[in-house]
Amino acid sequence: MTTSVTVLGLGLMGSALAEALLKDGRTVTVWNRSRGKAEPLVAKGAVEAESAEAAVSASPLVIVCLSVYANAEEVLGGAAAGRTIVQLTNGTPRQARAMAGHVAGLGARYVDGGIMAVPPMIGRPEALILYSGDEEAFEEHRETLAALGGARFLGSDPGLAPLVELALLDAMYGMIAGFQHALALVRSEKVAATEFAPMATAWLTAMMGTLPQQARAVEAGDFATSVSSIATSQVAFPGLIETSRDQGVDPGYLLPLRALLDRAVAEGHGEDGLARLITLLERPAG
Ligand SMILES: NC(=O)c1ccc[n+]([C@@H]2O[C@H](COP(=O)([O-])OP(=O)(O)OC[C@H]3O[C@@H](n4cnc5c(N)ncnc54)[C@H](OP(=O)(O)O)[C@@H]3O)[C@@H](O)[C@H]2O)c1
Repeated sequence: MTTSVTVLGLGLMGSALAEALLKDGRTVTVWNRSRGKAEPLVAKGAVEAESAEAAVSASPLVIVCLSVYANAEEVLGGAAAGRTIVQLTNGTPRQARAMAGHVAGLGARYVDGGIMAVPPMIGRPEALILYSGDEEAFEEHRETLAALGGARFLGSDPGLAPLVELALLDAMYGMIAGFQHALALVRSEKVAATEFAPMATAWLTAMMGTLPQQARAVEAGDFATSVSSIATSQVAFPGLIETSRDQGVDPGYLLPLRALLDRAVAEGHGEDGLARLITLLERPAG
């Protein structure tokens, strides 16, 4: 169990991370570029370091949570040797792999992470935090990291945690975009958003039940369906776009989906279930 932990970056998320560690009884050293943000944490028992270097040398486990990766490279200096650096700044798989190389060059071990939570959730089990990278280092600090939320280790490639994080955000933005477009459609006829939202919630919840089946289909390469075919969606889709235009609502986000359905039918997959579309995304047209 790690008793001393350093947190670099005391924005909204970094402060929540430091607070959860304090609540868990750790000795927490904090550092932030601008002075002042450490005060509430110091009042709760944290130690504010004079510099990033002093903060890094204070603890075997260093958690970094800054706005972007480039800032993290800047703040991790010579004192990192022998430390485990856990990078919780949002980034891309490529950035994570480059960061892992940079940290290895400093003589430290590297674990990348992706936070699937907002600050008020930190410290609760429903705050999922994805990790990947140096497994031995992760296991050594697993119990401490569990104070931040549910910890899930994905593998030794440091790029995995940001990849899965981005994939989950991808799914979220798709759902939000669809919901917002649907709201604009019904509002065009003065249907109250508050009346529509519970209907959309119930519908999307029911549709979420199809996700495991899609996953099984794409893993098995078996796209047979007895429920709903690509051809059925392809026939219905122009009506959605046409209605969007008729109601004066921007149909922009629907157009690539229509193109994908058209392509699937043109390639002879009309009788398959919608999971077949995943394989087309994996093989972009042109
Ligand atoms: N907030 C969320 O809901 C949430 C959820 C999941 C993941 N995340 C991720 O967590 C990370 C931090 O988010 P946040 O909400 O805490 O952001 P934030 O409140 O904007 O804080 C940004 C932090 O980065 C520091 N920083 C910016 N530029 C710097 C530089 N050049 N050198 C050193 N430090 C620098 C800031 O220091 P100063 O105070 O000096 O500006 C501050 O500590 C992001 O990658 C974000 O995507 C956030």
